[in-house]
Amino acid sequence: MTKFHVLTLFPEMIEQGLSCGVIGRAVRHHIISLNPVNIRDYTLEKHGKVDDYPYGGGAGMLIQAQPVYDAHKAITGGRRVRTVYVTPQGRPFDQKLARELAAEEELILLCGHYEGIDERVLEEIVTDDVSIGDYILTGGELAAMVIIDAVARLCPGVLGNDSSASEESFHNDLLEYPQYTRPEVWQDKSVPEVLLSGNHAEVTKWRLAQSIERTGKRRPDLYEKYLQKQQLAERLAGDKRNNIHLTESLLRGRGEIMCALGEDAAIYDRSSGVCMLRASSPEAGARLLESCPEGVGRYLAEGEHVVTLLQERGFDRICEYSQYLYTQREPLPVRHKEIRRLGEESLAYICSRYPAVSQKYGRERLLAGAVYGAFRERQLVGFAGIHGIGSVGMLFVEEAFRGRGIGASLESFCINRLLESGCVPFVHVPSGHKAAEHLQDKLGLYPAGNHVHWLGKEGR
Ligand code: ADE
Repeated sequence: MTKFHVLTLFPEMIEQGLSCGVIGRAVRHHIISLNPVNIRDYTLEKHGKVDDYPYGGGAGMLIQAQPVYDAHKAITGGRRVRTVYVTPQGRPFDQKLARELAAEEELILLCGHYEGIDERVLEEIVTDDVSIGDYILTGGELAAMVIIDAVARLCPGVLGNDSSASEESFHNDLLEYPQYTRPEVWQDKSVPEVLLSGNHAEVTKWRLAQSIERTGKRRPDLYEKYLQKQQLAERLAGDKRNNIHLTESLLRGRGEIMCALGEDAAIYDRSSGVCMLRASSPEAGARLLESCPEGVGRYLAEGEHVVTLLQERGFDRICEYSQYLYTQREPLPVRHKEIRRLGEESLAYICSRYPAVSQKYGRERLLAGAVYGAFRERQLVGFAGIHGIGSVGMLFVEEAFRGRGIGASLESFCINRLLESGCVPFVHVPSGHKAAEHLQDKLGLYPAGNHVHWLGKEGR
C-alpha cells in the first residue's frame, strides 16, 4: 500500500480535496493511505508562528526550517523516504515521473507557502523538486493533490480491476480515441457504426486509427515517438516469433526504447518495470546494458552472453521460458465454462501452487485483474494469467482435475482476452515442461525457437 504524507499548513485542504471520487474511495478502502501533517503542530514558537522575514530583505515571509524539519522527522523517524518539494522551480511533472513515484512504498510531499521555505531545511530533507507546470500557485497544496491523484491511480487496486486491465491492453503512447454513450442519435449526430457492431477486434482497430489520427494532429511530439517505436518494431518483426515480446511491448506503447543497434535492442517495459534485452553479440549486449535505467529489478534476456553479463552484475537466473505464438485472429473455444477473474483473496493459493510467482508479483497481477481461475462446483481448481509484459503464463491445474481440458480452457481464455484488446497473444512455457509444450501444440501455437531468461535480484 502506498502511503502519501503531506507536510502542509492547510491539512484540511488536502483531506477534503482528496476525499471524493476514486482517490477518496481508495483511501477509505485502505488501498492507499493519506496522512496530512500540519507543519504548525511542530513549531516551538508559543504562538504557533512558523514564518519569518527573509534575511537580506525582500517581499513576503518564509517558512522556517525547524518546524518543517521536525514534522518531517516525525514521519520518517530517521528513515530515508522520498520527499518531493512541490515548487515551480522543479522538474516538470509528467506520466513518467508519476510511474516512477508510484513504485515507491511511501512518499512525502512538502507544500510551500508565502515566498517559500528556508533553503537549509530543503537541502536536508528534499530528494526531488517537482513542478506541475509553468505558472505560480499561491501554495503547494493543489500541486501536491495533482501529483497524488496521478500517482495513486497507478497504484494497484486504485482504479479497480476493469479499468486497470483495460489500461494495460491499449496503446499508452497515443491520445485517447473519441467515446460515445446513449442515445445512439443526438441532434442528428449518430454514433459511429463500428461501435454498435459488437465486433471487438473491429472496434479496437477503429479506436487505434482514431487515436493515431488525433495524436498526429494534436500532439506531434508524441506522434514522433510513436513512429520511432513502430519503425523499430518493424525491424524486429523480421524475426517475428523470437521477438514477439519486444514488438508487443513497443506496439502496445508500454515499452521505451533504451537503445537500438540494428536488430539488437534494450526495451524497458515501463508498466512491469522489466528490461528486455536482445543482443546478437557480447559487445552489443554490453552496450545495451549500459543504456538500461538504474535500479531495474528484473530482466528478460535472450542469449547466453547477455545472461552471463547480467550474472556478472549480480543478477540471478530465476527461470527459463520457451515462447509460443498464437498467430490467428479467431478466438479459441473455451469449453470449461466456470472461469472468472480472481481477486487478492486468491494470493496465497496462487503463490503456493506456482512458486515462481512471489507475493509481491502475485498481488500486483491480481490487482491488475490479470489472473483467471477455473472453478468446479465453486472450488478453485486452477488458474492462468497474463504477465506484466503481456505474455500468457502462470498456468496451473490441480492434479485431480488434470486431463479434462481445464488447462486448455484457461489458456484459451487468456489468449481470447489478449485478442479482444488487439494484441498478438504469446505464451511463456517453462522450458522442458512436456505437458505444457504439448498443450501449445494442441491449441495451434507456434514455438518461437528461442528461450528467454528471467533474471532478478530478489525473486519475482
Ligand atoms: N507551488 C506553486 N506553484 C507551483 C507549481 N506550478 N508547481 C508545483 N508547486 C507549486
